[in-house]
Amino acid sequence: MSDQQGQAATRTYPPDPELSKSANARPEMKEQGLEEFWDEQAKQRISWFEDYDTVLEWNQPYAKWFVGGTLNACYNCVDRHVENGKGDKVALHAVPDDGPDSPDAQDITFSDLQRRVVAFANGLRKLGVGKGVPVGIYMQMIPDAVVAMLACARLGAPHTVVFGGFSGKAVAERCNDLECTVLVTQDEALRGGKSFPQKVNADEGLDGGPTSVEKVVVFRRTGGDVPMGDRDVYADELMSDVSDDPSECPCEPMDAEDLLFLLYTSGSTGKPKGVVHTTGGYLTGVTTTHNLVFDVKEDSVYWCAADIGWITGHSYIVYGPLSNGVTSVLYEGVPGYPDKDVWWKIVEKYGVTILYTSPTAIRSHIKWGPEHAQKHDLSTIRILGSVGEPINPEVWEWYHEHIGGGKAPVMDTWWQTETGHILITPLPGITTLKPGSAQQPFPGLEFEVRDDEGNALGANEPGNLVLTRPWPGMMRGLYKDDQRYRETYWSKYSDAYFAGDGAKFDDDGDLQLMGRIDDVTNVSGHRISTFEVESALVEHEKVAEAAVAARRDPDTGQAIVAFVSLKGGNEGDDELKQVLREHVAKQIGKLARPAELIFASDLPKTRSGKIMRRLLKNIAEGEELGDTSTLVDPTVVEDMKKQVGAK
Ligand code: WTA
Repeated sequence: MSDQQGQAATRTYPPDPELSKSANARPEMKEQGLEEFWDEQAKQRISWFEDYDTVLEWNQPYAKWFVGGTLNACYNCVDRHVENGKGDKVALHAVPDDGPDSPDAQDITFSDLQRRVVAFANGLRKLGVGKGVPVGIYMQMIPDAVVAMLACARLGAPHTVVFGGFSGKAVAERCNDLECTVLVTQDEALRGGKSFPQKVNADEGLDGGPTSVEKVVVFRRTGGDVPMGDRDVYADELMSDVSDDPSECPCEPMDAEDLLFLLYTSGSTGKPKGVVHTTGGYLTGVTTTHNLVFDVKEDSVYWCAADIGWITGHSYIVYGPLSNGVTSVLYEGVPGYPDKDVWWKIVEKYGVTILYTSPTAIRSHIKWGPEHAQKHDLSTIRILGSVGEPINPEVWEWYHEHIGGGKAPVMDTWWQTETGHILITPLPGITTLKPGSAQQPFPGLEFEVRDDEGNALGANEPGNLVLTRPWPGMMRGLYKDDQRYRETYWSKYSDAYFAGDGAKFDDDGDLQLMGRIDDVTNVSGHRISTFEVESALVEHEKVAEAAVAARRDPDTGQAIVAFVSLKGGNEGDDELKQVLREHVAKQIGKLARPAELIFASDLPKTRSGKIMRRLLKNIAEGEELGDTSTLVDPTVVEDMKKQVGAK
């Protein structure tokens, strides 16, 4: 278990009494039964075309929620707000890469959003997209990406969004797996003042082998000159003769259990897993958690600084906030560009009241110093959120003090691609906060910490986090792989969901998360499997064998260290190191590029031929190695140790 985190701090922060009085979350919610709680939320927050007749059918490991109900996610996120007189309310403050002062900044109202979604949905229909026809989306943080997702939801076409920083190969693999006939992308990406060839990347992937994709729709972002072939059409041309009148593209009534989207995520072995999310339970889960965890009010200005390519973007940039009818910031850029204070400029300009980000992003701001935040008025901020990795107590304290003005409570939210929405979190106005701890199950849920034999553990005993009840947004399995679903999540314990995270309770019954216990690494809050990086490395012609471990990193949480032995016993040099690191970036995406690469004449193996991963981890961390006598050749590790840190 990687203990990325120190101890939770002993200092605690009781809720502000004013906030307790007005908070959306009520203490009595914790007393409600599972089905009672979710039934109430689903009725209150979601507009159903047809009411459901059963709240939950639980046939472990598969759940069905709100059985018999029909609804449409796009209707809930867009149309109903327009129908309720909120058409002129800003849905998205879209901030481009060059920051909030850019002439390209757009305020998109719910009515604007509706027109754009309808027009694009009508465009997609011309390409044969409709209910049940899957669509791939490979885009960056621009409004058209949100439009594309919602247009799919409107038509009942499941989407699979591929993170814009992934390689074309990753795009093709995912689209082919889901058999997408249409891929939506953009001409070029703009990040940190540089442009990236999004469309060309997609082409490279699609041209790398047989593909299900027949049409590529290209939104113009930079207007750069990109090669367009027979397969390609510009989005504006596709939409040139379509209607943007919502009555000419009604929202498709979907069964609560119809597929809304698939999102691929890294597992500890094998190819990325296609996590299945359906409509009714997912939408109820994200709408409810977003509302209660962030205490969303009618005049909230909410900013989740994640990326739509990850589950956080799906649930808390797109579906949750839009379903709640809240005004959000959508930011294309990266922290630190064009200036180190750009985030705080955004907060000040739009009067952001809720900010949700990752510990990695906060650590960058800490490194640059609080003076950048101090230049701006951040007094509008009421609630802060953190997600993606354990947040160290020091980072929590800095965030609370320098961004939250010592007042705004920090919600440390634990969840996963598989869980769909937040499951472990404090609640504003209710929970006495403890930096470094995600603390409590969301109402209706229960979790335990168990040892490998299945015994429930008590205070201060680290073990495996499990969830013992179903929840509405839980995955409905892995796409076309029932066996893998059961094996990965439901075989370790016969009666509970195995999350893959280490955790422990403290003396007050609060939960502290301790990082992954499997071979999934977490670099800057991005899940990357060591197996995928190893596979990419061995695909290179010079590599004989590769093994990958993660070490702690003060900036990115974890960093990838790759151990490589070369064919023919050759010795590597610095140039080849660079080549191999770039090779991984090309195969998977830059986020998977090893921070460090170490050549070895052989990898440390036991006599039965197993790579000793524990030892690699020790080497990567620069720790003492202990007993190496079971190795075939103990000298190989000495050589590796010398290289660590030498880059
Ligand atoms: C980790 C991201 C500690 C955890 C929403 C989980 C966290 C993995 C937290 C899922 C947190 C997420 N504290 N660890 N608050 N939030 N994690 O699927 O290891 O990209 O299993 O979903 O991130 O990553 P995923």
